[in-house]
Amino acid sequence: MEIVILPDNDAIGGLAADAIANLLQRKPTAVLGLATGSSPLAIYDQLAARCADGAVSFARATGFTLDEYVGLPADHPESYRNVIDKDFVSRVDFAPGAVQGPDGLADDIPASCAAYEAAIAAAGGVDLQILGIGTDGHIGFNEPGSSLASRTRIKTLTRQTRIDNARFFGGDLEAVPTHCLTQGLATIMSARHVVLVATGPGKAEAVHHLVEGPVSALWPATILQHHPHVTVLLDSAAASRLQLADYYRETFRAKPAWQGI
Ligand code: F6R
Repeated sequence: MEIVILPDNDAIGGLAADAIANLLQRKPTAVLGLATGSSPLAIYDQLAARCADGAVSFARATGFTLDEYVGLPADHPESYRNVIDKDFVSRVDFAPGAVQGPDGLADDIPASCAAYEAAIAAAGGVDLQILGIGTDGHIGFNEPGSSLASRTRIKTLTRQTRIDNARFFGGDLEAVPTHCLTQGLATIMSARHVVLVATGPGKAEAVHHLVEGPVSALWPATILQHHPHVTVLLDSAAASRLQLADYYRETFRAKPAWQGI
């Protein structure tokens, strides 16, 4: 696990955007795993700017989102399908239909989740997965207690996650759905490179467990300690509870810039 502590969101977005641009240069048909929420916004802003400048193209790439609320109407502005379209997909040059997400309105949820897994596999698997992390340690919406071997399925959101996300629903906790479909922890672990972003003091405890805690379903993100290529991009506040923060800083400072992440 590579831990990179950077001054601010812009620096985080820039480094992640570099990695994605390099990937697309090597492999224009790359498969990207896309997270919603606040954490990846700086990455999406940088990629949108570079795409507008002609420095990067998603024309032959495909994408898979991590998760979706169950039961939100298709035109609801907070459905993750609409959020990812607004925050990223509509701002770059993906081909129509190139980005898919779990179907939170499916009649047969298990069949729909299995079809989503099959679609990711048929695309050749995810080359680079962007992740945020919940204050309770979730990735995707794999809440505490999730099976470390889980695949795409329905989950009940914790009260804490619904409180955290109420800001997107006008502060109304009751408006936040209670269930979601999410890629499982094993699905996320199948990605070839995982780039996790966490900023702000509210993420410090989850980051502490992710990086330096024991692997446990109580802090689902800790499964990433078993992944061979994970990059964790943090600001100082999110890194504030890391015992080895100085070592991570020195290690990254000594790394030649051309190597990227
Ligand atoms: C979103 C997702 C979640 C978020 C996490 C952090 O697709 O899968 O795991 O990444 O809840 O959310 P933010 O970035 O809004 O703090």
